Amino acid sequence: MKYSSKFSWFPCFCILFCSLFVSSQLDYKFYDDSCPNLTKLVRYGVWSAMANETRMAASILRLHFHDCLVNGCEGSVLLDDTSTTKGEKNAFANRNSARGFEVIDAIKANVEKACPAMVSCADILTLAAREAVYLTGGQFYAVPLGRRDGLSSSDSAANEQLPSPLEPLENITAKFTSKGLDMKDVVVLSGAHTIGFAQCFTFKTRLFNFGGSGKPDPALDTSFLQNLQVTCPNQDDSDTKLAALDTTSDKFDNYYYKNLINNSGLLQSDQALMGDNRTAAAVMYYSKYPFLFWRDFGASMVKMANIGVLTGQNGQIRKNCRAVN
Ligand code: HEM
Ligand SMILES: *[C@@H]1O[C@H](CO)[C@@H](O)[C@H](O)[C@H]1NC(C)=O
Ligand SMILES: *[C@@H]1O[C@H](CO)[C@@H](O)[C@H](O)[C@H]1NC(C)=O
Ligand SMILES: *[C@@H]1O[C@H](CO)[C@@H](O)[C@H](O)[C@H]1NC(C)=O
Ligand SMILES: *[C@@H]1O[C@H](CO)[C@@H](O)[C@H](O)[C@H]1NC(C)=O
Ligand SMILES: *[C@@H]1O[C@H](CO)[C@@H](O)[C@H](O)[C@H]1NC(C)=O
Repeated sequence: MKYSSKFSWFPCFCILFCSLFVSSQLDYKFYDDSCPNLTKLVRYGVWSAMANETRMAASILRLHFHDCLVNGCEGSVLLDDTSTTKGEKNAFANRNSARGFEVIDAIKANVEKACPAMVSCADILTLAAREAVYLTGGQFYAVPLGRRDGLSSSDSAANEQLPSPLEPLENITAKFTSKGLDMKDVVVLSGAHTIGFAQCFTFKTRLFNFGGSGKPDPALDTSFLQNLQVTCPNQDDSDTKLAALDTTSDKFDNYYYKNLINNSGLLQSDQALMGDNRTAAAVMYYSKYPFLFWRDFGASMVKMANIGVLTGQNGQIRKNCRAVN
């Protein structure tokens, strides 16, 4: 009796163990049968949003980063607040800053028409970010799929886990390594700032009163500083004005790194990559070899897109990206 009850547990254990193992794997062909046109639909959605506003590519890429870094790539950044919960959209780094939600909604609506209740919002955002990189001139990277959508979103988790442009490289790196990324990924993924814009308040202390010195950040190139002081005058009503994150802010090239070498990184956290021996060598390298940046960027994006994914029976396939079913 004792023996047979032990024995009967064995297959159960195996099924549980094996299914955990299998379900933790994402798959490049996950939707090949269930939604063969998925890539086309996502590409069209990103393309048409960019046709209206080029910057949207950057906004979507950032949204994917913010999704993945906070409790994993499970679409939680897309959830609206409810009457009882405050989600990631309301966190400091996202409020009045994260954008592109309507684009993901539009793509999701088209995908639901073609393949109802099959494709997660987390996968749509992952693919949309990849298309954003590709359509702005970066490398196409294959990304495995099969993510499922999370059931909750927390503003305090986002406040703790998202990096701030004002914190030191050490702290930013710690936030990445806690997610299984490393310092090389910090340098490579920061290269996403080769597209898009930042609001003046995210870097204004560098222009007028750096670290309470009453002077600009000495790590800022003089003519770059003068231009920024015109864009972002030292008064509160300039806080939401925009400055380009690199000199070619609609092209996925390696000018981000070239600009850092010229002391023309926009955010303090960008220029900090040149101020540390452990990262400066990689900045120099990518400034010289755009193809190697593209290659490494794709690899780091796939790594980032694997953070904390839900698979198998976990989570759900949301009908509407803004709310759990
Ligand atoms: C390393 C730490 C990082 C910090 C501190 C940081 C910080 C910021 C800040 C402050 C902005 C401007 C937001 C605003 O003004 O509203 C921004 C924009 C942006 N970030 Fe990052 N970021 C980091 C890493 C990343 C990564 C890893 C990615 C993607 C892989 C990314 C993609 C972007 C993009 C594309 C934009 C422009 C968005 C737009 O124009 O709408 N960033 N980032
Ligand atoms: C995929 O798109 C093509 C047109 O591009 C269409 O003819 C076909 O029916 C679509 N397939 C599915 C499964 O939706
Ligand atoms: C087009 O872009 C503008 C911002 O440049 C935005 O206000 C508008 O809602 C967008 N229109 C569509 C249809 O996405
Ligand atoms: C950086 O991290 C350390 C250790 O966690 C913390 O004490 C410090 O306040 C952080 N600095 C900033 C500017 O966030
Ligand atoms: C870097 O600075 C040099 C000298 O000021 C300038 O000629 C060059 O165009 C700059 N390069 C970039 C990418 O900004
Ligand atoms: C970084 O390199 C510079 C010059 O190559 C050197 O003077 C400095 O001591 C180094 N700093 C660290 C922390 O290794």
